[in-house]
Amino acid sequence: MAGRDAIGGQRLPRWPIVAVAIASALATLIASRSVAGGVTPSGCTAIDYIPVNYSIEYGAAIQSNIFVHFSPDQMFGCADCHTTSMGTQTPAGNLDLDPTDSSPYTNLVNVPSDEDPSLIYVVPNHPEKSLLFQKVNCDNPPTGVRMPFGGYGGGLSPAQQATIYDWIAGGAPIGTTDGIFRGNFDIRGFIADEIFSGDFEIP
Ligand code: HEC
Repeated sequence: MAGRDAIGGQRLPRWPIVAVAIASALATLIASRSVAGGVTPSGCTAIDYIPVNYSIEYGAAIQSNIFVHFSPDQMFGCADCHTTSMGTQTPAGNLDLDPTDSSPYTNLVNVPSDEDPSLIYVVPNHPEKSLLFQKVNCDNPPTGVRMPFGGYGGGLSPAQQATIYDWIAGGAPIGTTDGIFRGNFDIRGFIADEIFSGDFEIP
């Protein structure tokens, strides 16, 4: 704040200082709240060194190779727990990621979290606001624990975490991302450093 109250050597009246103080407090509040739920995730894996993939096909890359089976031997998947088992059980976290009994896409995109409805699983174009990404990228997501639960099946590789990031950043289409990230502005790279240190402000 120092320096803002004296411009061109002249003292300004007090009210603009108060206005600036209120505006800056509001901006901080809004910035922190726009990170899902106001809780800043921590213990997040760096993915900035992984080349950005501008063309991700949801069905193959996300639904099949992560939700159904993410391990190299294809033995483990999110849907091992996140399933209704053909309507016979409640899926883990009350979130169904099993395409044999419902549409994971419909269950995720623009859908509030069952655990904390102030959080959204997938906010198209905004992986940093998407609980799905935070849950697979961070040891301490805004709610619950890191997925896959307990490091099940060896966990997701940084490249798989980046795939989820890039798919959401590319608009989270049910088809294939077309390479446009937030109006050609590719934010992956600095966001992991800045958002998780709390310095990031959503434009
Ligand atoms: C071994 C069982 C298991 C596996 C495998 C698993 N989960 Fe979960 N998941 C849970 C449990 C239990 C919860 C509830 C506790 C929590 O949120 O941390 C949960 C919660 C979640 C939630 C939050 C639900 C909500 O309402 O907020 C998301 C998102 C999620 N899991 C995504 C995934 C993804 C993506 C994968 C695969 C990469 C995965 N999970 C693999 C057990 C599992």
